[in-house]
Amino acid sequence: MSKRYSINEVAKIFNITTNKLRFYEKKGLIKSLRDNTNNYRYYSKEHLVRIQTILMYRVLDFSIEDIQQVIDENYKDNILNHFYKQWEVVNDEMHRLRLLKDSIEELMDAMYESDDEKYVDKIIESAQRINKVNNIKDNWKDKWDFDNWAKTYDISIRKDIGSLKIYKNYDEILQTVYKKSTENIQKDVSSIKVMDIGVGTGNLSEKYLNKGYNIVGIDQSREMLNTAKHKFPNLKVRLGEFLKIPFDNSEFDIIVSTYAFHHLNDTEKNLAIKEMMRVLKYDGRIVIGDLMFENNVKREELMREFTKDQIEEIEDEYYSNIEKLETEFNKYGKRLVKYKIDKLNFVICVQ
Ligand SMILES: C[S@@+](CC[C@H](N)C(=O)[O-])C[C@H]1O[C@@H](n2cnc3c(N)ncnc32)[C@H](O)[C@@H]1O
Repeated sequence: MSKRYSINEVAKIFNITTNKLRFYEKKGLIKSLRDNTNNYRYYSKEHLVRIQTILMYRVLDFSIEDIQQVIDENYKDNILNHFYKQWEVVNDEMHRLRLLKDSIEELMDAMYESDDEKYVDKIIESAQRINKVNNIKDNWKDKWDFDNWAKTYDISIRKDIGSLKIYKNYDEILQTVYKKSTENIQKDVSSIKVMDIGVGTGNLSEKYLNKGYNIVGIDQSREMLNTAKHKFPNLKVRLGEFLKIPFDNSEFDIIVSTYAFHHLNDTEKNLAIKEMMRVLKYDGRIVIGDLMFENNVKREELMREFTKDQIEEIEDEYYSNIEKLETEFNKYGKRLVKYKIDKLNFVICVQ
């Protein structure tokens, strides 16, 4: 028989009162089981997961009704999906608070440094900016449905579907990113923290994993993460986005990404660069392999060569303008070097 827990044991595990458990039961959030002999309440391991979830949402100030809704919506989800949901809520909240903290800091400086009229302007300006950034971060959506693509991704890139044949140099791009990001590394690689953003099915991460780097792959698609984890059980994966990287400041020595950055428009890219710079160590490096044009003039030139189908394919995404990326990275004191792989694929190294 699987382990069962008394109400006192559960209360002790979560450091709450037994009354709180009865209250949640009365509100319909949990339904304990009853012992046939003495009619005492008891709880299973599944109950413990549910209680942990309820308590986490309570910490985040969700009302009982809201919790009921979230839990019921996810009723059929497996437990991992439930944790993913919690991870997302906590991460979103951390990002919102970080932004708020930065803005309060800015306002305190403004109070010291400006005269009365100017600081009022600064407060308004800062509130508007924060709202705008929050909106951009909250509104990024996966229009390409990567969850649906996860299971067939590896096969379809080998077939190189699409009119532009953007995957024809896939292996070379991944290898160049790996080589450039690990060049001249003197330290023991197991102490080097690497993050692969938009890890997909894990093909780039595999290279670091094989050499013993401390790598984590993040992706906004749970199905991609599941596939990557299935292929490489030792790979650490986390749900995460370019715009809300789920890690602390200055954690990574190396940030890499392939075929993912072009799912962000220019404004989003600048915020993503800010996010990458936040989690990158002072002397860290960023290496991105992706679809890019060198500048607007080159873009126009190439667009004239493409067929209607090819242009449509390009316009469905947001190929980078390397000059613009360079200007943005320069703002953080970083230098960008580019390597051309083919007409549309480049690897950029930022250090
Ligand atoms: C075309 S696949 C590339 C996968 C892998 N990097 C590779 O080279 O094979 C793009 C991946 O980026 C992820 N992605 C797209 N936009 C993202 C974003 N804003 N944040 C995190 N991941 C993103 C997708 O979910 C998908 O797994």
